[in-house]
Amino acid sequence: MQADTLDFRSIAFDSVDYKQTCELRNEVLRLPLGLNLYSEDLQQEKEQLHFGLFDHDSELIACVIAVPQGAGQAKLRQMAVKAGNEGRGAGRRLLLSLEELLGARGVTQLSLHARISAAGFYEKLGYARSGELFVEVGIPHIRMEKQQQPLKKP
Ligand SMILES: CC(C)(COP(=O)(O)OP(=O)(O)OC[C@H]1O[C@@H](n2cnc3c(N)ncnc32)[C@H](O)[C@@H]1OP(=O)(O)O)[C@@H](O)C(=O)NCCC(=O)NCCS
Repeated sequence: MQADTLDFRSIAFDSVDYKQTCELRNEVLRLPLGLNLYSEDLQQEKEQLHFGLFDHDSELIACVIAVPQGAGQAKLRQMAVKAGNEGRGAGRRLLLSLEELLGARGVTQLSLHARISAAGFYEKLGYARSGELFVEVGIPHIRMEKQQQPLKKP
């Protein structure tokens, strides 16, 4: 896998690609914790924005969700890179592509709940820790934030 050759795409809720994201998120983010994504209310994801990085065979390598939160703000969630592909730039590529897309839509304030084990990744991409540790899905998390510069109009 070469991160710069992957295709960044927006994904429609309930599409075949969306189903790939559910499988990937379940494998990476839920099953290792003894949880199951399919027990959650996924219908609420209809209102959320889904994105992925795909290889030449249209296999999903990484995915993330953005939740619009009012004027210029979005919360990111469920970032996951397929097992065996971590540490090779896919996470960075996905997040930077998403930031660019959201920036073009006027989003300047990004936030997320990071697993402590992943906080260093987000820090490398300019996110800052905010507030105290808290527990989500049974493991410690921290809120992280990033302020983007508004995109300059040509
Ligand atoms: C965390 C995750 C999204 C990072 O994606 P990735 O493709 O592995 O990361 P990249 O290869 O793009 O790494 C970008 C940089 O972050 C660093 N990095 C990656 N994961 C890191 C981690 N967990 N902690 C600290 N730094 C990390 C890399 O070393 C790299 O640094 P460099 O610029 O000095 O080379 C991915 O490993 C993953 O899905 N992990 C399991 C699920 C998870 O924790 N998701 C996040 C939930 S909040």
